[in-house]
Amino acid sequence: MKTIQEIRKEIDHCDEILIQAFEKRMELVLQVLEYKTKEGMPILDSSREEEIIAHGLRSVKNRDFSKEIEDFIKSILNISRKMQSIRLFPYNIILIGFMGTGKSAIGDRLSQLLRMECIDTDVLIERQMKTSIAKMFEEHGEKYFREAEKDMVKRVSYRKNTIISCGGGVVLHPDNVKQLKDNGKIVLLSAHPEIIYERVKEDQNLPVLKGNMSIEFIQKKMEERKDKYESAADIIVDTSNKDKEEICQEIVYKLLKNGK
Ligand code: S3P
Repeated sequence: MKTIQEIRKEIDHCDEILIQAFEKRMELVLQVLEYKTKEGMPILDSSREEEIIAHGLRSVKNRDFSKEIEDFIKSILNISRKMQSIRLFPYNIILIGFMGTGKSAIGDRLSQLLRMECIDTDVLIERQMKTSIAKMFEEHGEKYFREAEKDMVKRVSYRKNTIISCGGGVVLHPDNVKQLKDNGKIVLLSAHPEIIYERVKEDQNLPVLKGNMSIEFIQKKMEERKDKYESAADIIVDTSNKDKEEICQEIVYKLLKNGK
């Protein structure tokens, strides 16, 4: 029987092999990234990840370890995605746009795809103030909420490589835009007023639309804010009639094209 020292020595040797292979793998992943960027190929390819997992599982010899091997490949893919996203986006991706343009939903999906952390200023404000946005408007007025929003923007702008989904009115204060741009690129999500109406009509936590939930009012408010949104934006992506995957691909493509 082998001694524990002998077994441990063999484990150390396995780790060395794994590390060497992993280093090589990461170098290859960066080569793929460079190739895709140069050729303008889509960066996010979920089907390729499925292929990698399936390929890995086919090469498992001891089936008792299938579950662990699957987890192992998934961890590798996570690390790999993260490594790519840090290189591609060494800044914050800021999502702005009118209510119902998809900022939160797209922020969540982008975060899964790029393995970047996603934060939402409205959620953080509600957590900090221990109340809902609707209640803040009702009890203290809009100005009070805008101050809290300004403070939150200041706090989150220091981050890097984070997706920041902002409240629809964040552009109303020029300081917010300036702060957010310091470490980030601004992605303006847009959508047709009819589509926005369908997405938000049941939402009770939108005080700006309270008592005015109609396509006409949404259109009017959007028009009022149009210049502010557009002048803040580094890129614009229309989310009407597109699925989340298409929108995320378009954001990544446009951000990379936009350069920095
Ligand atoms: C607002 C939009 C809301 C929230 C607040 C004010 C606005 O965020 O910040 O109700 O003025 O457009 P969402 O756009 O994320 O709903």
